[in-house]
Amino acid sequence: MADSAEEIRVALIGVGNCASALVQGRAFYAGVGVSKPGLQTVCLAGYLPEDIVFAAAYDVDARKVGLDLSEAIFAPPNCTTRFVESLSSSRCVVRPGFEIDGIGPVPARTPEHKRFLPIENVYTGLEEARRAIVAELKGARVQVVVNFLPVGSNRSARFYAECALEAGCAFANAMPALMARDMGERFRQAGLPYLGDDVKSQVGATILHRALASLFRDRGIPIKRTYQLNVGGNTDFLNMKDEARLESKRRSKTEAVLSQLDASHMDPDGVYIGPSDYVSWLNDRKICFLRVEAEQFGGVPMEIEIRLSVEDSPNSAGVMMDAIRAARVALDRGMAGPINDACAYLFKSPPVQLDEQMARQLFRRFVTEAAPPGTA
Ligand SMILES: NC(=O)c1ccc[n+]([C@@H]2O[C@H](COP(=O)([O-])OP(=O)(O)OC[C@H]3O[C@@H](n4cnc5c(N)ncnc54)[C@H](O)[C@@H]3O)[C@@H](O)[C@H]2O)c1
Repeated sequence: MADSAEEIRVALIGVGNCASALVQGRAFYAGVGVSKPGLQTVCLAGYLPEDIVFAAAYDVDARKVGLDLSEAIFAPPNCTTRFVESLSSSRCVVRPGFEIDGIGPVPARTPEHKRFLPIENVYTGLEEARRAIVAELKGARVQVVVNFLPVGSNRSARFYAECALEAGCAFANAMPALMARDMGERFRQAGLPYLGDDVKSQVGATILHRALASLFRDRGIPIKRTYQLNVGGNTDFLNMKDEARLESKRRSKTEAVLSQLDASHMDPDGVYIGPSDYVSWLNDRKICFLRVEAEQFGGVPMEIEIRLSVEDSPNSAGVMMDAIRAARVALDRGMAGPINDACAYLFKSPPVQLDEQMARQLFRRFVTEAAPPGTA
């Protein structure tokens, strides 16, 4: 069957909470985007949320593999809010992925419904897995591969990016495997777009902290010390209890804020940013405690404290909807490599960091300059 010109065929790598919010959001906003609140971009260069088609999905959890995507997104340990009661079958069955470093250790006595339950690898090795997944991506006519693997899955993220490259797909990296520069270059050489790394939530801890940092900078008040402590109860937070897996996330979040600061007046150890603990009963709710200490006029001290409480996964889904549509626009326009005009607005660790206002301007220009679908 021929694909419609407006269709954006997506493969999901990891059917966790972020995938759940994205799949639900696609149904929630289908046909009525303008009249429902919460969508960052209704029509992106002619593409609507309902143009996104989930053509393939991969996971390694025994409770998800083999299910239709519309059911797998509600299987444990997913715990994000169900905001769409009934989803029709997506006709996309979750296929077994290839596990390298996606599943980290979890604290003993973590109940089964709160942690991953991995299947045995169905492939004998990397080469066999790569060949099979590339063939499946091609068979499903996937255009954009979206990476939702757990933090710390750096080798797995590269494995799936290689599969996307070989299958001729664009790649949108929602997680902090920081590879936009080197892998992005490989995508450029292959004539394919790359978007990443580590999606910025719509109104989350990072954007709030960046806004505060630039407010202080613009108003001439140097920040001396700041912290951002985050707690949550989903598998993302459970996984990040393992400090060894956390390094890239901490770096990504810290640099996103530091890039907005005039650091010349800061204490040498004046910044602490990162996921800080796992509280099981919070489920997909994330609480962020943010503190800024600064010196106002005359060197007189001042401070701000903010507490943000937000459902974590829906907070990133609208931004990933923009990233997916931007990837398709880039494909339409024959653009390759990291799409800088979109990355700085949508991701915490883009190849080039910009202040929020400039990032937004460039993204809007990218969106409006793009030819409408079918005309490129
Ligand atoms: N607001 C947000 O929620 C937000 C913001 C920025 C970045 N992120 C990042 O996005 C990523 C996804 O977040 P999430 O909350 O959906 O995580 P999650 O833990 O709910 O889901 C991860 C999924 O990946 C699967 N998986 C693990 N190894 C795999 C493999 N080798 N192949 C295929 N699937 C595999 C797991 O079984 C699970 O279903 C995380 O890295 C997170 O840090 C999330």
